Amino acid sequence: MIVTTTDLFKHAYGKYAVGAYNINNLEQTVGLFRGNLGKTAANDDPTDDSKSAPFIIQISRGARSYTDKRFLEGLIRSAEAVFPEAIFAVHLDHGTEEACYDCIDSGFYSSVMIDASHDPLEKNIEITKRVVDRAHAKGVVVEAELGQLGGVEEDVVGSVCLTDPEEAAEFVEKSGCDSLAVAIGTSHGAYKFSGGQGLHFDVLEKIQKILPEGFPLVMHGSSSVPQEWVDRVNAAGGALKGASGVDEAQYLPAAKLGVCKINIDTDGRLVWCAVLRETFQDKPEDFDLRTSGKVFMPEYAGYIIHKNQMFGAAGQLESARAAIGK
Ligand code: G3H
Ligand code: 13P
Ligand code: ZN
Repeated sequence: MIVTTTDLFKHAYGKYAVGAYNINNLEQTVGLFRGNLGKTAANDDPTDDSKSAPFIIQISRGARSYTDKRFLEGLIRSAEAVFPEAIFAVHLDHGTEEACYDCIDSGFYSSVMIDASHDPLEKNIEITKRVVDRAHAKGVVVEAELGQLGGVEEDVVGSVCLTDPEEAAEFVEKSGCDSLAVAIGTSHGAYKFSGGQGLHFDVLEKIQKILPEGFPLVMHGSSSVPQEWVDRVNAAGGALKGASGVDEAQYLPAAKLGVCKINIDTDGRLVWCAVLRETFQDKPEDFDLRTSGKVFMPEYAGYIIHKNQMFGAAGQLESARAAIGK
């Protein structure tokens, strides 16, 4: 069942974070739904309540244009029918104003992200407010972003890039957004924290304190880039040198400080890359695309279960269902 991120965040706030996973194709969609229901194998295996979790499906503009955006909607609608116990939000990741309107008007997305974080504060507020007004009129909720993730690397960390708590308070009040993505040291992709500094909990704490009580925060660029997967990719012919990510032990402390949504895309790509490289390397005579797909789906589902455990979200599905009242 599709719900809004607001429904999910009310249940999660201060206790755990909801995993927000990017998808691009069928195999990711199936692995994602299975994993969030606590199972790795067949669709008809029973849901494991100790591992099942509410979740967020993220669709980027790149994913929407990879084939045709309608295929993704079709995939998710089919998954909803195959996995009727699942509770999830459908969210546009890093939207432009135009993409947000397209998703709001489609009636399919329950949540959109307007990313005007590269604009100056006033302009970011102005654009976000326009999207909020149009989204709220249709019951869609809005994530906005303040601060800049991409530039936050080892030697350029500074207050200019990280989210300013005072600005965050002004931004939330004036824009009317429902959740806020904050820059607290993470960055997108497989090469984070080359200096090993980790998350800026001091900044996160200040942001939580200054915002209205219970206001949901979002952490982008949060893949942990597990060494195990990097090693598997490299052992099968890849060349990922110096890849590193967020320390998984930092997810729950961040959730306790109001981070309700943790974005993961890169880790899923690593699982995909490792599985495809391994299957083609191990079976050079095989050219059936389903050979790797069959390995990928349970591997990815297993990875999702692990991630949800790290977020404190595993085992929360039934309690979230009761709280949401659906
Ligand atoms: O934050 C960006 C996400 O990882 C989506 O990436 O635009 O390549 O699909 P993408
Ligand atoms: P990663 O690149 O760390 O997976 O971040 C994904 C993300 O923030 C999607 O919006
Ligand atoms: Zn992001």
